[in-house]
Amino acid sequence: MSGLAVRFRELWDEIAPIGRDAGSGGYLRYALTAPELRLREWFRAQADLRGMPVSGDGNGNLFAWWGEPPTGGPDTGDPDNGGPAGAGAVLTGSHFDSVPHGGAYDGPLGIVSALLAVDELRAAGVTPVRPVVVAAFVEEEGARFGVPCLGSRLLTGEIDADRAAGLRDAAGVSFAEALGHRPAGADPALLGRFAAFVELHVEQGRALVDADAPVAVASAIWPHGRWRFELRGEGNHAGTTRMADRRDPMLTFAFTVLAANKEARLRDAHATVGRVAVEPNATNAIPSTVTGWLDARAAAPETLDGLVEAVRAKAAERARRDGTELTVTRESATPLVTFDGGLADRLAGLLAAPVLPTGAGHDAGVLAAHLPTAMLFVRNPTGVSHSPAESATDADCAAGVVALARVLEELACH
Ligand code: GLV
Ligand code: MN
Ligand code: MN
Repeated sequence: MSGLAVRFRELWDEIAPIGRDAGSGGYLRYALTAPELRLREWFRAQADLRGMPVSGDGNGNLFAWWGEPPTGGPDTGDPDNGGPAGAGAVLTGSHFDSVPHGGAYDGPLGIVSALLAVDELRAAGVTPVRPVVVAAFVEEEGARFGVPCLGSRLLTGEIDADRAAGLRDAAGVSFAEALGHRPAGADPALLGRFAAFVELHVEQGRALVDADAPVAVASAIWPHGRWRFELRGEGNHAGTTRMADRRDPMLTFAFTVLAANKEARLRDAHATVGRVAVEPNATNAIPSTVTGWLDARAAAPETLDGLVEAVRAKAAERARRDGTELTVTRESATPLVTFDGGLADRLAGLLAAPVLPTGAGHDAGVLAAHLPTAMLFVRNPTGVSHSPAESATDADCAAGVVALARVLEELACH
C-alpha cells in the first residue's frame, strides 16, 4: 500500500465508527444529530491541527481556510463564524450527513480527501496564491429535514431562510431549533470570495469499473426532485369492513408505485418510492392515510416533467376509483446541471480521466449555478450507494486525493 493510502486509512479509521449502526453496518449520520455533530467537531480539530481557521455562514455550513485571508472579512453575525474570509478562494469539500443506513463514503470521502490533498500540497512545498477552503455542508441528503442540499441552497439563496427554518424532522424538531438559531440565508459576500468549487465524491454507479479508471470528472447532473403523494381514505376495521365498502389509500398507493416504475421505464428515466408513512399503521386496520415520497430523475427537464405528470394523473385516476383523495406537493427540485464545460475539459485533460454524467444530486449541483464548479468521482467497486454496500479501495481513495491535489494546485496556484 502506498504511504498516501496508509495515511488515508488512518484518517478514515478515525471517523469510521461514528454513527455506524452495528446491525446494518450502515450509517445514521443525520444532520445536526449527535454523530454528525461529532464529525463536525472532528473536522474543526483536523482544521486546527493544520492551522486552518474555521468559519461558518450562519446556515450550518463550515469552512476551513488555508491561505492568506484578506483582512476585514465580513462577520456574518453567526455564532459559528469565528474565522476570516479570503478572496478568489478555491472551495472543495462535501458533506458528513448520510441517508438512513447509508454508506461510509457518500460525503465524508470528499472532506477527508480535501484535508489530505491540503497535506499533499504542503508536503510538496506548494504555496497557493489563492486560499484553498475545505467545506463541510449541512443536510446534503435531506434525510432529516426533507430538502436535499439544504446548506448549499441556503448559502446561495436557492431556498428562503424562513422556509428552511420551519422545515421539521420526523420528531417535529425544526431546522432552526436543530441549528440553535434561525438560518442566516444567502451570503453573497462569502459566495463572492469563492472562485471555484470542486467536490470529490464516491461514484454511485459502475461506470468507472467498466472504464477501468480510478477517477472521473463529472459532466452533468440529471434534473431531479421529490414529490409527496398524500392519499387519504377511511380508516376502518380489517375484519368487518366489506371489500366493496372500503376507501383504502394503500390500494391507490400500491398502484401509484407501479405506475411510477412503468412511466420511468417508458422514458429511460428513474422513479423511486423509498419512503412511506402509513396511519394508523396497524395490521388489522385499513389505513386512513398513506403518504409516499416519489424521487424522480431524468436526463432532460421535459422528460422529468412528463414523468411526474403521468404518475400524478394515474394516481389521481386510481384515487377516483378507490374513493380516496390525493394531494401532491413538490418538496424540492433541482434543475439540470451542466458543469462548466471548459473547467471539466481542463480537469479531464489534467488528470487523463473520463468524463461522466450522474443521476445523483450534490451540493456541487447547487453551487454550479453561482460559480465555476467541477466534480471528481472515485471508483466504487460495488457500484452501490445509499446502502452499506457502498465501497472504495484505499488505493483508489489515494488516487482521488492525488487527483484533487493536482486540481487544487491547478486552480489555486496559477
Ligand atoms: C443525493 O445523494 C441524492 O442524489 O439524492
Ligand atoms: Mn447521497
Ligand atoms: Mn453525497
